[in-house]
Amino acid sequence: MKLEAEQRTLELRRLIEDANYRYYVLDDPAIPDAEYDRLLRELQDLEAAHPELLTPDSPTQRVGAGPLKGFAQATHDVPMLSLNNAFSEGEVVAFDRRAREGLEREGQIEYAVEPKFDGLAITLRYEQGLFVRGATRGDGSSGEDVSANLKTIRAIPMRLETVTPPAVLEVRGEVLMLRRDFDKLNQDARDQGEKTFVNPRNAAAGSLRQLDSRITAKRRLHFFSYGIGRVEGADLPGTHAEVMDWLAELRLPVARQRRVVVGVAGLMAYFNELGEQRATLPYDIDGAVYKVNRLADQERLGFVARAPRFSIAHKYPAQEELTVVEAIDVQVGRTGALTPVARLKPVFVGGVTVTNATLHNEDEVRRKDVRVGDTVIVRRAGDVIPEVVGSVLERRPLRDLLAPLHEPFVMPTVCPECGAPVLRLEGESAARCSNGLACPAQRKQAIIHFASRRAMDIEGLGDKLVEQLVDRGLVQTPADLYSLDLERVAGLERMAQKSAENLLAAIAASRHKPLARFVFALGIRQVGEQTARDLARHFGKLDALMAADAEALLRVADVGPVVAASIAAFFRESHNQAVIEALRQAEAWVDGEAQAVFAGRFSGKVFVLTGTLPNLTREQAKERVEAEGGKVAGSVSGKTDYVVAGSDPGSKLVKAEKLNIKILDETAFLHLLEKGD
Ligand code: IVH
Repeated sequence: MKLEAEQRTLELRRLIEDANYRYYVLDDPAIPDAEYDRLLRELQDLEAAHPELLTPDSPTQRVGAGPLKGFAQATHDVPMLSLNNAFSEGEVVAFDRRAREGLEREGQIEYAVEPKFDGLAITLRYEQGLFVRGATRGDGSSGEDVSANLKTIRAIPMRLETVTPPAVLEVRGEVLMLRRDFDKLNQDARDQGEKTFVNPRNAAAGSLRQLDSRITAKRRLHFFSYGIGRVEGADLPGTHAEVMDWLAELRLPVARQRRVVVGVAGLMAYFNELGEQRATLPYDIDGAVYKVNRLADQERLGFVARAPRFSIAHKYPAQEELTVVEAIDVQVGRTGALTPVARLKPVFVGGVTVTNATLHNEDEVRRKDVRVGDTVIVRRAGDVIPEVVGSVLERRPLRDLLAPLHEPFVMPTVCPECGAPVLRLEGESAARCSNGLACPAQRKQAIIHFASRRAMDIEGLGDKLVEQLVDRGLVQTPADLYSLDLERVAGLERMAQKSAENLLAAIAASRHKPLARFVFALGIRQVGEQTARDLARHFGKLDALMAADAEALLRVADVGPVVAASIAAFFRESHNQAVIEALRQAEAWVDGEAQAVFAGRFSGKVFVLTGTLPNLTREQAKERVEAEGGKVAGSVSGKTDYVVAGSDPGSKLVKAEKLNIKILDETAFLHLLEKGD
């Protein structure tokens, strides 16, 4: 009985840690959550019945323990240093030159390159393969012993995967919070009316400094290794890249994006490649880290002050900066939604100068309590619209002195554009102007959307022109664009004869677009480009789409009840019917012609992406598929036409092989894009 319990305990621990590894390190879950919970509960029960079987490395110990009074100090055997930064190519060139001079090297240097994780530096100490202690960086010589909290991080192995563990291994790395866990944490905080965290790094830091590790356990932290400290009883390989491979074999998490490159050209190519992926990575990074690959060379180069000479952090432009709110305006969008927008003192963030940032909606402004005069954190990540993350309350000017400036924001009760009443429906976060297309602001936005590049693509018809056309009463609906004449267009401000001719030609050329574009151009709420494509493919003709009731619309893949209701309501509206009729009269839209429903090489084809491709990011590959009218699905099924597989592909590939689905590597995929089948 006892022996049986012991064996089952060992088996359960292995199953659970394997599941942790698959889920947290490989990002390729092997068992459903419910099964995981069952295994964990069985193990807890067994350990409760046989306390002598409980060991400190058991996965049941990852749920956290009661609060500590404080953290003990932990002295670092090998100091935890920092890196020097480079902000330009010139500084990278200088770094490489210093390294070559230091090594008296004629040729190019090989570098190991990896992301610079935006989290907190941590050291983990393993003795005889068992996790014994972990600490923060602190001042570099000693930090805080946060072992209890680190134990709750399931990406951190409690036991190294090897039969010959080194006597001592210190792993250096970064604790961070994945963006999806951060979003969820903040959403939960909002639902509970609690304070939100400003960014994933602050959330990670706050979570790791909890004296009660049960709280940390709930926060879902992650870890990536990027180096080692003290090692005893193991022969180290010759290069940093091999050290990282070794850590990966021991089942420590390492970045997939690590590579080995040669010379400055290699460094810059990596920097640009990683920069393109930055917005779509599951975690925040603030740069790339370059390390001379050969450990013997690292040793030769040594350190200067508190930073190594063999390594540098090449930083991307900051995604967050401080600035001051000069005003809060309210903008009226295409659907009448009123969006509060902060007018900011210009600030350089995420690589561009930002002067406006969205505050999303009324509730969001209240929650963040952003007021005119406040110093705020502005964030611009990738191509995402800049947003105000929150106010820095310590910097709010004294209210007594500047009282009139610092009232909390209130949403206007009438539309700032047309004066109609503003309504906010129950359950909606947006307040809307109730005037529909009678509101000039909505009319303008509808026309701007209709003409935009991804819709009817009328070149040269920008915001300013649309504003003039609507304000002068020349255009009320998109259909009116097609009856504009040269005289009236040339009479507009800053409009030369030649540009007027070009504009009219562009309007004429926008006719006869595929149905998907026309449907998207109509600006139906809830209908983005992808849904417009799905609708066009499903119905084939505009008449069929217009006649469809909610039930028929629900038969379109990916259309749910909310979207279906919105589409049906749009086509029921007599004003919209009249505009569509006028567009037909103007021959802006012609049904049943030979023109494609949706022209694209991959029309109707379903792709699944798995693993890391050598050149394209997942987002880029997805864009390419969709640009050709194909669809990217999340999982492999009988409906999948192609699986595009990179390195570390995971279970999707196995399934594709089982189902006999065509598998492409990146080269074959690109070939298919160029040439078709
Ligand atoms: S190597 C001698 N690699 O950046 C220092 N650090 O400014 C060795 N960091 O405290 C550090 N990602 O917290 C290294 N791939 C990476 C990193 C990384 C993030 C952090 C680390 C360190 C700070 C240095």
